[in-house]
Amino acid sequence: MRIVWYLLLLSLCPVGAGLSPAQDDPVNYDEAKVPTYDLPDPLVMEDGTRVETPDQWYKHRRPELVRLFEEHVYGRTPKQSLEIRAVVMNECTAFAGRALLREVDLIVPRKPDGPIRLLIYSPVGAQNPSPAFLALNFMGNHSIQPDTQIKLSTQWIRDRAGHGIEENRATEASRGKLSSRWPVEQILTRGYALVTAYYGDIDPDFDDGFANGVHPALGSASGADRKPNEWGSIGAWAWGLSRALDFLEGDALLDAGRVALLGHSRLGKTALWAGATDKRFALVISNNSGCGGAALSRRCFGETVARINHVFPHWFCERFRAYNGRESDLPVDQHQLIALIAPRPVLICSAEEDHWADPQGELLATRAAAPVFRFLEAAPPVHRLRAGKHDVTAEDWTAYMDFADREL
Ligand code: GCU
Repeated sequence: MRIVWYLLLLSLCPVGAGLSPAQDDPVNYDEAKVPTYDLPDPLVMEDGTRVETPDQWYKHRRPELVRLFEEHVYGRTPKQSLEIRAVVMNECTAFAGRALLREVDLIVPRKPDGPIRLLIYSPVGAQNPSPAFLALNFMGNHSIQPDTQIKLSTQWIRDRAGHGIEENRATEASRGKLSSRWPVEQILTRGYALVTAYYGDIDPDFDDGFANGVHPALGSASGADRKPNEWGSIGAWAWGLSRALDFLEGDALLDAGRVALLGHSRLGKTALWAGATDKRFALVISNNSGCGGAALSRRCFGETVARINHVFPHWFCERFRAYNGRESDLPVDQHQLIALIAPRPVLICSAEEDHWADPQGELLATRAAAPVFRFLEAAPPVHRLRAGKHDVTAEDWTAYMDFADREL
């Protein structure tokens, strides 16, 4: 009887109405319970035509896949361009004069909650413009180093015990609290610049019906007026990464042609989507990105489409909810997201104990993306599995930089 009611409810529920029946389901961590599934072939068009030439990939299949991810997963990013002003707020040295530290505000017209503030560290005395890592941060620029020269974020920040955030605002106690994830000195010593911004500067990470962040600046609808394919927060964060790159293109100290895009967890999902949609990023690294990132949705292992849509209803487009518990009906899976970055180098990083993000699903997606890279005569994407938990470690950074040294 329950099942009948449930089916009835589902049939009454229009696509995108947000029913998340799986929210109370137990999470599957058992390989034996992974459903059997067929992955959509990245090299076969929706009408069944096989992609035979790179030209067909670039002109037809690639745009088709981008459109499918826009329509069914992340939503469409508005194409209109905005007059964004860049204002240098701070310029000083750091690390005993070995680095230049700059903070630059990107002022987005009609964005209600302030600028997107870039924090840029670049090596002093470099002969040539430096290659750079670009990565959003979770808690404000000031949280990546205990340097009082960095301006304290005044934005809404998710409360986090022991991290100096009170009532969703940063306090002095939050300075440097995430520095273990940001070995800035080591990055500079290896000749890279580091560019970061607080992701909440682009769009605060809570469900407010899309009234804050860059959504209203780009004319997004909210509430009942929202279309099934309108962009969510991941789309917005990815848009912000592209605006950071716009700024770097005019910065003489950095080589915008050698920017490695990096993201951890939800920001790893974001880095993959940004790398897929903006071909200027020279290299892409996702760390522990999991569901909606590098992990195959069809495996339903760890976090599922239903759970992510229920807990984070603002991350994806509304239509993505139609696939709650129906992953095999998705016209795409996440290996195709990785494939969209080809032929540029991609590194997918997983952690053994990070079952929620499904390390095996990330490995299988990396492998299933490889045929596209080979087809384009590029090196296949690399999967890296390390011991330990969901996190970014100094050892991870060594692997990122070794990869970038080789590939950039
Ligand atoms: C939650 C979420 C994940 C996400 C992670 C993070 O665990 O379920 O999808 O990757 O947060 O961003 O830290």
